[in-house]
Amino acid sequence: MEQVSLELTVGPVAHGGWCVARHEGRVVFVRHALPGERVRAEVTEETTRFLRADAVEILEPSPDRVVPPCPYAGPGLCGGCDWQHATLEAQRGLKAAVVAEQLHRLAGIERDVVVEEVPGAKDGLGWRTRVQFAALPDGRLGLRKHRSHDLQLIDACLIAHPEVEAVAAEDHQWPGAASVEVIASSEGDRAVVVAPRPRRKVAVPDLDAPASILLDQGKGRTVPRHGSGLLHERVGDREFRVSGSGFWQVHPGAAETLLDAVLAYAAPEPGEWALDLYCGVGLFAAGLAEAVGPEGAVFGLESEAAAVRDARANLRDLPQARVERGRVEEALDRFQIERADLVVVDPPRSGLGLDVVERVVSLEPLRVVYVSCDPATLARDLKWFAERGYELGDLRAFDAFPMTHHVECVALLTRRPS
Ligand SMILES: C[S@@+](CC[C@H](N)C(=O)[O-])C[C@H]1O[C@@H](n2cnc3c(N)ncnc32)[C@H](O)[C@@H]1O
Repeated sequence: MEQVSLELTVGPVAHGGWCVARHEGRVVFVRHALPGERVRAEVTEETTRFLRADAVEILEPSPDRVVPPCPYAGPGLCGGCDWQHATLEAQRGLKAAVVAEQLHRLAGIERDVVVEEVPGAKDGLGWRTRVQFAALPDGRLGLRKHRSHDLQLIDACLIAHPEVEAVAAEDHQWPGAASVEVIASSEGDRAVVVAPRPRRKVAVPDLDAPASILLDQGKGRTVPRHGSGLLHERVGDREFRVSGSGFWQVHPGAAETLLDAVLAYAAPEPGEWALDLYCGVGLFAAGLAEAVGPEGAVFGLESEAAAVRDARANLRDLPQARVERGRVEEALDRFQIERADLVVVDPPRSGLGLDVVERVVSLEPLRVVYVSCDPATLARDLKWFAERGYELGDLRAFDAFPMTHHVECVALLTRRPS
């Protein structure tokens, strides 16, 4: 594509790590820029409705601009981070603006949003306890460039946790691998999950630090090739086991921060009946079960078999907690769940969707706590909840992914008095 260069005045932030500018009446989504800046940008993509562009020269910088700490953060380089060129305070301001804008535009909700720091990574670096590398055909590892299948080879990832970097996976060759994920847990375990290329055997190199090795067999199934493949995580007094590449928050301070926020909003009372939908290995179910006590009950639903096994092991000492495998969309009916005092939902990025919103409302809970990693699907679902009598009471947002555009929200919905 012939390189098209534009001079732009950069406008507000947009969801996804972009800022919005205009050129000859068309919207331009600009990366590597900040609101208020004057930049020269090169067009990277053109559709009939808008352009995408990378700011390659900053003509008038924002006071929030800093030199990116990572040499691979910049136009045409690694796509993992979006906001390395902004101060951490400014990054949180940008994320707050995105959440507020999504709530306003998609749900008609006016709200001032503050994005809170998550303890454990003061400078916004060294927090990512799971890093997924992709492999070149010759076995070298790299990180994907933005909106591309191309790889950026790196010496080190600055947002990776030091215990992930200790493995130095990117310094080795992995012949036969399609991808390599390195995971480090709060209790000092490490695992490396290797996905082979079709019909290839992977030659696993000698690593710089000990780690379990698991082979990814697709569809969420992994088999240990060396070591147990189990990771242990501690939150407060409780230890959780997590198998292979099963879900766990990637920021070391996020699990505890989110658990505290969820319990404060859910305010579980002894004897209450609570649901933990999309429960993973049982983080919120454990806190709910301790609070509702033996007179109460917690029912967790999770679609991944390994996570269900882990959750049952993690909640063994809490007989009031029961975890079943199933997709929320069908399993609430299958298990004949008809009512709940409290419902906690923590869906993947796609959110709940209308059918699940309606099914949750049909349980007539007093409080719904919605944990979300995507403010767009959260706002869409909040609108559907509001139309069915559940209003946004309070909302907190957390910087669980510094340097990236991602943000975690916890929302409290309460039933409107009829
Ligand atoms: C964002 S994670 C939350 C896990 C847990 N609440 C935590 O904080 O550790 C979402 C979880 O939902 C599971 N999941 C995805 N789609 C699902 C569905 N349709 N029904 C049930 N579980 C689902 C995933 O396997 C994953 O464990």
